[in-house]
Amino acid sequence: MSKVLPVPLAIPVGAPHARIMGLGSYRPERVVPNSELVDAIDSSDEWIQQRTGIKERRWAGEHETVKFMAVEAARGALAAAGVTGEQIDAVVVATVSHLMQTPALAPMVAHEVGSTGAAFDVSAACAGFCHGVALASDMVRGGSARHVLVIGVERLTDILDVTDRGSAFIFSDGAGAAVVGPNDVPGISPTVWGSDGEKFDFITQTESWRDAIGTEDVAGSGVHPVLTMQGNAVFRWASFAMAKIAQETLDAAGIGIDDLDVFVPHQANMRIIDAMARTMKLPASVKVARDIATQGNTSAASVPMALHRMIEQGEARSGDLALLIAFGAGLSYAAQVVVVP
Ligand SMILES: CC(C)(COP(=O)(O)OP(=O)(O)OC[C@H]1O[C@@H](n2cnc3c(N)ncnc32)[C@H](O)[C@@H]1OP(=O)(O)O)[C@@H](O)C(=O)NCCC(=O)NCCS
Repeated sequence: MSKVLPVPLAIPVGAPHARIMGLGSYRPERVVPNSELVDAIDSSDEWIQQRTGIKERRWAGEHETVKFMAVEAARGALAAAGVTGEQIDAVVVATVSHLMQTPALAPMVAHEVGSTGAAFDVSAACAGFCHGVALASDMVRGGSARHVLVIGVERLTDILDVTDRGSAFIFSDGAGAAVVGPNDVPGISPTVWGSDGEKFDFITQTESWRDAIGTEDVAGSGVHPVLTMQGNAVFRWASFAMAKIAQETLDAAGIGIDDLDVFVPHQANMRIIDAMARTMKLPASVKVARDIATQGNTSAASVPMALHRMIEQGEARSGDLALLIAFGAGLSYAAQVVVVP
């Protein structure tokens, strides 16, 4: 039995509901067409386009660090939301390519945008941004924050083996951000999320750095692992298991597939996007994010970047219902329906 306190503890008081108030993104300047990669992996532009739908991607230049890209995207989201950095009570950065074990990237980003709120990173790979939205929504409704800045940012080229035939053509760099804040009506549905850790080695990091430095002590060696992926196994899992999660998310949101306006799956591979849409029996009227064609797979940044582009191009309109679903290494996934700001 719990002890009776002399005075009851105050409880946090949150907003009735949460919503995404604004989005921003940053795309690196350098466009890298397939033709630039094919020699190193004995491939062709045709093969890459046919297997992935990727025509070109963006790779960051030296000055386009994870911090730089995250801050640029964050500034865009703050401006779109009409919220200042000082109003941000928490910054959540989803990333796997901030190559410093500590400190996290989030406090540096918070400082740059003028926030002294809580700041921490989330490591859920490609599913990281949707994890961040889930946390932000609960924080706003639970009373631990009024405005939360959620950022997905990756500089995957730092952990990419450009000679790996199985992954060199997929991954790229960029950042996307959203401000989540209070609302009178629901703007973010319950999140459906989970993991399948038995498949942790489907997408992981090579241990070749051990050979490179001849020791398990990687600290200070300047050598770090690179991404490696069992492409076929990931493809099958994503195409079918994630279509089921998409349906569960619509059920959790209390809407039918015909109510949906926009579908923003993680931009992993165009064939996975198409397979999911087919399995879900997505109506032709639903606009589907296809940012991958010119941006490649930016892991944690892919969902906010894709949604932001759809808003900029008028494909997603304010008030639309959008299903976000992200999945990747872990294996981890998270999905929610949001009202487009
Ligand atoms: C990576 C991926 C494009 C590879 O396609 P795939 O059809 O599975 O390719 P496979 O490895 O089975 O190889 C098929 C053939 O293509 C060849 N091949 C493999 N990589 C190649 C490349 N980069 N260029 C040209 N040919 C290639 C293989 O040698 C094989 O040839 P064969 O049939 O003569 O033996 C695909 O598996 C994929 O997109 N998976 C999902 C990855 C993903 O989305 N990851 C991110 C999740 S967050």
